[in-house]
Amino acid sequence: MAERRVAYVDLSAQYREEQDDLRAIFDRVMTEAQAVGGRDIEELEHSLAKHHGMKHAVTLNSGTDALRLGLIAMGIGPGDEVITPPNSFVASTAVIVDVGARPVFADVLPDQNIDPAKVEAVITPRTKAIMPVHLTGRTADMGAIMAIAKRHDLMVIEDAAQAIGAKYQGQFAGTFGEIGCFSAHPLKNLNASGDGGFVLTNDDAMAQTIRLLRNHGLADRNTVVRFGTVSRMDTLQAAILQYRFARLDGIVERRRKNAALYTKLLDPELVFCPPEQPNEFIAYHTFVVQVDHRDALQAHLAEKGIGTAIHYPIPIHLQPAAAPLGYKRGDFPICERQAERILTLPIHPWLNEGDVEAVAVATNDFLASRRKNTH
Ligand SMILES: Cc1ncc(COP(=O)(O)O)c(C=O)c1O
Repeated sequence: MAERRVAYVDLSAQYREEQDDLRAIFDRVMTEAQAVGGRDIEELEHSLAKHHGMKHAVTLNSGTDALRLGLIAMGIGPGDEVITPPNSFVASTAVIVDVGARPVFADVLPDQNIDPAKVEAVITPRTKAIMPVHLTGRTADMGAIMAIAKRHDLMVIEDAAQAIGAKYQGQFAGTFGEIGCFSAHPLKNLNASGDGGFVLTNDDAMAQTIRLLRNHGLADRNTVVRFGTVSRMDTLQAAILQYRFARLDGIVERRRKNAALYTKLLDPELVFCPPEQPNEFIAYHTFVVQVDHRDALQAHLAEKGIGTAIHYPIPIHLQPAAAPLGYKRGDFPICERQAERILTLPIHPWLNEGDVEAVAVATNDFLASRRKNTH
């Protein structure tokens, strides 16, 4: 029997499911010929803010600009320090450097999220903000992080790029700090057909600053009140996102179902899957396991036609670009060890039970045979 191939992502399957609706949306937006701004942007912002119980949602061109403009709106710049984890997509650190501030790393917990105790240990008089990253769609320990921020009078900007729909103690990721930043990149749980992102905030002035900066600092058609650049979400992407936002709960449920099946099938003696805690609701943007023989397992799965990924193989403090920050190997031992052991298994909503089972069985069998050989 031919082996079952399991794709890491399958955006064509998403399109097959949605194509009649998306064609109608495309036709309407093209007919209305409002390519930038307009009703679709306003409606999406209204839906996002309302759903999250926040005053403002501001749509943008990417999660990266959500973070970058968020930092600027918080007044962060040269001379300031922002504490963030070293195991993230590079954007979270890069934007701190981009606004002229200094990223200060704090190591992570076994679940890959920033360790609040390590955050507190690196606070200095220059620290202005904490930027937790809700990696994999699991919220960082926001209870502890918000308590630290309060104690030290710091702001919090949440990198919720991977975490739409995730909750901590029943509260949505991205609604704890001054600003929550989200990505609508095609691979995210709420995905545009291109780049997109948005911020959530209850702060009127910060929302206003981000609205200005995304549109050349224009207060009206001809008046520039602050020099900015262009970072708007396209109207077509907003229309697609509004349609998909209504279906997001179903998408998260399908991912959670796949995660539950993996958790049931993967051998806990061989595979560490950080369990969901009672105070968490994980959105499972990714399903990351921690294993011995990671590279060999990934190669074995690839041979069987099973796609996987590594998020992320090189911690940010060890990237060549980070050399001026002065960190070295050994500074963040938990993150560094995880970087050698993490593997992201396919979890997209268009997998069926047989797919998940095939990945779990192939993983268990390979790791069991490795263990037998090394004993
Ligand atoms: C943790 C994290 N931060 C920031 C980003 C940046 O988002 P975008 O790709 O939309 O710019 C991403 C996604 O790519 C991410 O995963």
